[in-house]
Amino acid sequence: MPQPPLRVFSGIQPTADSLHLGNYLGALRQWVSLQDDYDCVYSVVDLHALTVGPDPAALRQRVRATAAQFLAAGVDPDRSILFVQSQVPQHAQLTWLLNCVAGFGEASRMTQFKDKAAKLGDKAITVGLFDYPVLMAADILLYDANLVPVGEDQRQHLELSRTLAARLNSRFGEGAAVVPEPLIVKATAKIHDLQEPSAKMSKTGHPAGIIELLDDPKTIAKRVKAAVTDSGSEIAWDPANKPGIANLLSIYSALTGRPVGQIVEDYSGKLYGHLKADLAEAVIEALRPFRERTALYLDDPGQLDQLLRTGAGRAEALARVVYQRIAARFGLAQGTASR
Ligand code: TRP
Repeated sequence: MPQPPLRVFSGIQPTADSLHLGNYLGALRQWVSLQDDYDCVYSVVDLHALTVGPDPAALRQRVRATAAQFLAAGVDPDRSILFVQSQVPQHAQLTWLLNCVAGFGEASRMTQFKDKAAKLGDKAITVGLFDYPVLMAADILLYDANLVPVGEDQRQHLELSRTLAARLNSRFGEGAAVVPEPLIVKATAKIHDLQEPSAKMSKTGHPAGIIELLDDPKTIAKRVKAAVTDSGSEIAWDPANKPGIANLLSIYSALTGRPVGQIVEDYSGKLYGHLKADLAEAVIEALRPFRERTALYLDDPGQLDQLLRTGAGRAEALARVVYQRIAARFGLAQGTASR
């Protein structure tokens, strides 16, 4: 008998006006191709973004901008469910239930929390920031997700989601929750900071170290040309000794689909500047249609909001059933509000 397709869940926080090349090559592009084989649910996780206290107007704009970029990249709202996390109330509800099974010590060991907390200082750390990984577990368990595409930096959070799912099953009996598997993006798509090639490209990194997907061609060219390169002049694949060049080669390869080895051959005897000029052109050409499509969605916010409401309706239809199932296991009363 044919099995129903496995369920995929993933999310990106609306914390910037534009996603960056690392988001695109490392995550979004994979999300798009997963749609061919899986039943995908993708979310703009705005409740997560609240943990850093964003300006309300900026948050509102960034939720739309992030959704528009998912669509521009090829997330198909007919094949997949695309929605905004806060529009489905069960995320917050399930978080509370999971809060009551997650250990304080367990949550305290999350390295991302420890890093962020160390930067913020005691007074600025909210309970929400501490609880971020539990909300993430709720996102995943609420859709009985089997697979979760995430970057390497989310591995520990995903491990916590697995632990909590397994704990529900051992406490309340099998079938309480699906234990999700990580789908970690492989090395080729791991894009590093252009100014600090030992670090992952990230919106919290050096501003000149990232390429934003909505950057204009001039800015893109400037960023690529100013990328830190390594001493020496030979274009070779040597991530340990030439991390800057390796990063440029990875980006080039990920954008064009050509193996790094071939690119290195093409540039034998050429200078870093040649590689940079060609790469800048490749990035600009790859992002041009993306930028245009994003603008079309943002030009009609009414229609975009409608599309997101439809997505939230479909997400909630799934989430309501799973939430009720888990809440019942906890022994919570079953009266459902009529709606
Ligand atoms: N924490 C994830 C990140 O920063 C975003 C996220 C929130 C997420 N909820 C999720 C990713 C659920 C996968 C599944 O990348």
